Amino acid sequence: MSETPTNTKKLFIRTYGCQMNVYDSERMAEAMGGEGYEEVDSPDQADMILLNTCHIREKAAEKVYSELGRFKDLKAAKPDLKIGVAGCVAQAEGQEIMRRQPMVDLVVGPQTYHRLPDMVAKVEAGEKPVDTDFPLEDKFEKLKNRPTATRAPAAFLTVQEGCDKFCAFCVVPYTRGAEVSRPVDRILREARELVARGVKEITLLGQNVNAYHGEGPGGTWSLAKLIWALDEIDGLERIRFTTSHPNDMEDDLIEAHGTCKKLMPYLHLPVQSGSDKILKRMNRSHTAEQYLRLIERIRAARPDILISGDFIVGFPEETDADFEDTMSLIRAVGYGQAFSFKYSTRPGTPAAERPLVDEAVSSDRLQRLQALINDQAREVMESMVGREVGVLFEKPGRMPGQMVGKSDYLHAVHVTAEGIAPGDLRRVRITEAGPNSLAGELV
Ligand code: 5AD
Ligand code: SF4
Repeated sequence: MSETPTNTKKLFIRTYGCQMNVYDSERMAEAMGGEGYEEVDSPDQADMILLNTCHIREKAAEKVYSELGRFKDLKAAKPDLKIGVAGCVAQAEGQEIMRRQPMVDLVVGPQTYHRLPDMVAKVEAGEKPVDTDFPLEDKFEKLKNRPTATRAPAAFLTVQEGCDKFCAFCVVPYTRGAEVSRPVDRILREARELVARGVKEITLLGQNVNAYHGEGPGGTWSLAKLIWALDEIDGLERIRFTTSHPNDMEDDLIEAHGTCKKLMPYLHLPVQSGSDKILKRMNRSHTAEQYLRLIERIRAARPDILISGDFIVGFPEETDADFEDTMSLIRAVGYGQAFSFKYSTRPGTPAAERPLVDEAVSSDRLQRLQALINDQAREVMESMVGREVGVLFEKPGRMPGQMVGKSDYLHAVHVTAEGIAPGDLRRVRITEAGPNSLAGELV
């Protein structure tokens, strides 16, 4: 028999990085909820602070240390305060974190946070545990869940983790480990639980989510097959997935974009560069042309799909001509959204050995690329004016009587009308496109 613990201690979690970290932070909060920790939204009130960290670029990793520096005074004022570092920096740096910041009490990687309650018990006994294993057990099954009471209408659900692709710039295969897919029944069970708690939209998460190959009835399931099973859950209205690799965009998944009504017309499909030379050096195993043909096939299945991407500029030895190839690819695709980054050297990755592009050159390229993407994104938003879209409302807006939600295409939409509640999915006619969001009226 499990007892309901009285919440006497306060936990503050700060999350950096990707959506999977957001998902993991929620699971950690739930696990610690089982230990009598209640989540708070300020570090000042906390008995325990957890930083769930990101290692993808140098800046993200360095943030952790500056943040830890800021907690020094807090710890001085409250010696019992416990500080933990979780996530990908924890995985990559392990014990080193405690050497740099001795006030850190525990270090836990992304694959072992189900052991957090035991680790906290060790901390309370005066130890400083570090756990960066890649255990064989399924952490999600080991978590002692105490679901948080409040739920947004849109939720994340991790279905796949890790990566075997080894792009030359990327730390993910080292921090998150090898590709692992969760079994179908556990995913469907979690999805049903989310829906029972009022969730209408689920975004399936994975570093290579479209490489999903989980065990299910009858054998190994593809992501498309999983999506079709989710499609049958009553009350679940919308399905999304992220992030995908072009080489894993199988026919059944492309087809689902055309035929599955719950699958939203939005696809995040990073290409990173438009230069074949750079793609090769990035170890992406596809050409720019192959990516363009793939986009064509996806658009043939779902003509209105909004394509989103990731780009890295200033990858080692990227020339002006290489960069222009990237700009041409962007013009050819027409993105509705994209994330772009200056190349950041990650120790231990193959690209770290290569000669760097001049910083000022990279900055200039990034600026030009972002200007082009912004123009394209604005064009797509403007093309929404006059159209009718589905909007899942999430929360009140800043103006009185206003509600904000997300359109099928993931644009933020503001509507001022009576009787809309968070969680309502309504048809909206878009009347206006602003710089960052759309406005509309109920149909
Ligand atoms: N430098 C810059 N950007 C990177 N990304 C991954 N590794 C690096 C790096 N070393 C970007 C890629 C990836 C996104 C999540 O982060 O564009 O798709
Ligand atoms: Fe990193 Fe490449 Fe794997 Fe994406 S596909 S997580 S960029 S190694």
